[in-house]
Amino acid sequence: MYGKPRILVVDDELGPRESLRMILADDYDIVTAANCNQALNNLDLGVFDLAILDIRMPDINGIDLLEIVKQKAPSTEVVMITAYASVDTATKALRLGAFDYLIKPFELSSVRDIVNRGINKRNETMMIEKTIDELQCANKSLESEIENTYSSIQSHYEETICSLVAAVDAKDSYTKGHQERVARLVSEIVGYMRLPENDRELMYRAATLHDIGKIGVAENILRKKCELSVEEYESVKKHSQIGADILSPAKFLQDLIPMVRHHHERMDGTGYPAGLRGEQIPLGARIIAIADAIDAMLWERPYAKAKTVEEVKAELIRVAGTQLDPNLVGIVVSSELFNTYNREFRH
Ligand SMILES: [Fe+2]
Repeated sequence: MYGKPRILVVDDELGPRESLRMILADDYDIVTAANCNQALNNLDLGVFDLAILDIRMPDINGIDLLEIVKQKAPSTEVVMITAYASVDTATKALRLGAFDYLIKPFELSSVRDIVNRGINKRNETMMIEKTIDELQCANKSLESEIENTYSSIQSHYEETICSLVAAVDAKDSYTKGHQERVARLVSEIVGYMRLPENDRELMYRAATLHDIGKIGVAENILRKKCELSVEEYESVKKHSQIGADILSPAKFLQDLIPMVRHHHERMDGTGYPAGLRGEQIPLGARIIAIADAIDAMLWERPYAKAKTVEEVKAELIRVAGTQLDPNLVGIVVSSELFNTYNREFRH
């Protein structure tokens, strides 16, 4: 604290005002007021560490003034002045937040003692408030540090996922671009379905990395151009579970995991890895499954000729209800999806 502590003395009588000034002036900066208006003006103009208020004044009751002071400056300590006859009133003042009371005529040592204690209490209060402010400040900066660290971890993880997607693309020429095309189809389908924005975003993101688990499948199997042996097919089937395992450490990717894990389930329960059936299969996984099937049929590969749109539609209708969700098939075959696909991916 800089300079002497400031004390406001409010009393309508000159005698007590001046005697308090004389007792306290060496150690404190004393401002006096003879009535309520002067007291309020002074409170508006500056901060006081302590106010000494007479209980009996012609224009305002000291108890009412105490309440005003506590409202205007809650941390200013208040000492009431009373006569022997009104100690009861002084006790009431204590209940309303006054620190202590002085009895007229003043005793020099008791004035100094009460005022010193009042000022000490005010200093302690200010110190506690300052500490709370500093703690809140430190807390805020810690929160923002945690937030920054979290988003930096998040972006590092996303970069890692992108690298893994690129690594899968490099392993298998078909997968290269496949996830991107499937994601585009998924975003078209969820648009037709008018799903909530948040779900659309999640399903799109899941589609962009739905085959990420192929990173765990041997390259010679992925690139094989003839039919796979039973063992090889079993190895490829592991990719949906491997994909879910890759994403599982990242808290912020948790919602994507079921869609990645179950994108090869079938409506009749004969899919993998869990053999879920019908609506047990997450909607996002059912949507990725149909987009996956469409891209597999429309995309030209060295060992499989691309099907025509009509052939694809016929195949989707054939497997509706056994392999694919029949409602989704209904939405897709009557949509503009194939035009979008041809325009964007087939030239
Ligand atoms: Fe897949």
